[in-house]
Amino acid sequence: MRRLAVLGRPVEHSRSPAMQNAAFTALGLHGEWRYEAIDVAPDEFERVVRSLPGQGFVGANVTVPHKSAALSVADEISEVVREIGAANTLVFEPGTIRAFNTDAEGFLAALPERPAGARALVLGAGGAARAVAWALLREEATVEVWNRTPLRSQHLAEDIGGAPVDEPEVFAYDLVVNSTSVGLADEDPFAELPLGEEAFRDGQVVVDLVYAGGPSRLLEAAVDAGATTVDGIEILVRQGAAAFEIWTGRPPPLDAMRDGARGG
Ligand code: ATR
Repeated sequence: MRRLAVLGRPVEHSRSPAMQNAAFTALGLHGEWRYEAIDVAPDEFERVVRSLPGQGFVGANVTVPHKSAALSVADEISEVVREIGAANTLVFEPGTIRAFNTDAEGFLAALPERPAGARALVLGAGGAARAVAWALLREEATVEVWNRTPLRSQHLAEDIGGAPVDEPEVFAYDLVVNSTSVGLADEDPFAELPLGEEAFRDGQVVVDLVYAGGPSRLLEAAVDAGATTVDGIEILVRQGAAAFEIWTGRPPPLDAMRDGARGG
C-alpha cells in the first residue's frame, strides 16, 4: 500500500481524503494507494514528516499552518516553491524530500479563461494569496493586492510583484479573488472585506478560495450580479489533481475528484 496524507491543523474537515480516494477508486487503484488526514501540531511538523517514509508514505499535501515549514523540511524545492515561498505537495524518495506548489497551477486551471491582460484584485496576503498573485503575474495579468494588515500586502508586492491597494473599487476589476480565510468561520465578507453591497457586476470573474459546505455569501452576491464564479471546491480539485499527477504519474480523473470533494 502506498500511503499519502494531508498534514494540517485543523484537518478533520479536509475534503482531500475523499477527493483523492475517489480518484484511486475511479482508476481501480484503491487497493494500492490510500490517502488520509493527519492532524499535526506546528512544533511536531518536522518530526512527523521525517517519520512518514518509514510508515509507507510516498508523499503528502501540506496545508494551514505548515506551508512555509514544508519548504524548510525539503531537500529539493521547485522553482515555483522558491518564488512563492510556500509548498503544498511533498514527495518522499529514498533519502530525499522534494517540495512542489500546485496551488498556483491549480488556481489557473480552475479559471474559465486565461487571465492575460486582466486587471485582478487579490484579497489577502497569506500563502494562498501569494500563490494566486504569482500565478496571475506569470500569466501577465495586472495584480493589485488588498490585505487587512497592509504591511503584509506590501511585503507580498515586494517579494512577488503587483501593487498594494488600500481602498479598491471592486467594480473596476475583471477578476476578483478572495484568498483570505474570511467565510471559513462564517464571517460576513461584506463586513470584513472591502466589498459593498453592489460590489460585483456582469462580466467579472469572481473566485472564492474558501469552501465551507455550500455557496459562499460572496459568490452568491457575485452570481446575483451576473458575474462568472469559481468556488473553493474547484480550486481544491485542481490543486489536488496536479498533486495526484505528481505522485502517480497518471492523468487525474477530474470528475471523480469533484464528486469526491463535493461528497457526492
Ligand atoms: P493562508 O496561508 O491560507 O493564506 P494565512 O497566512 O493565515 O493563511 O492568511 C490568512 C489571510 O486571511 C490573511 O491575508 C489575513 O489577513 P491578515 O494578514 O490581516 O491577518 C486574512 N484574514 C483572516 N481573517 C480576516 C478577517 N476577519 N478580515 C480580513 N482578512 C482576514
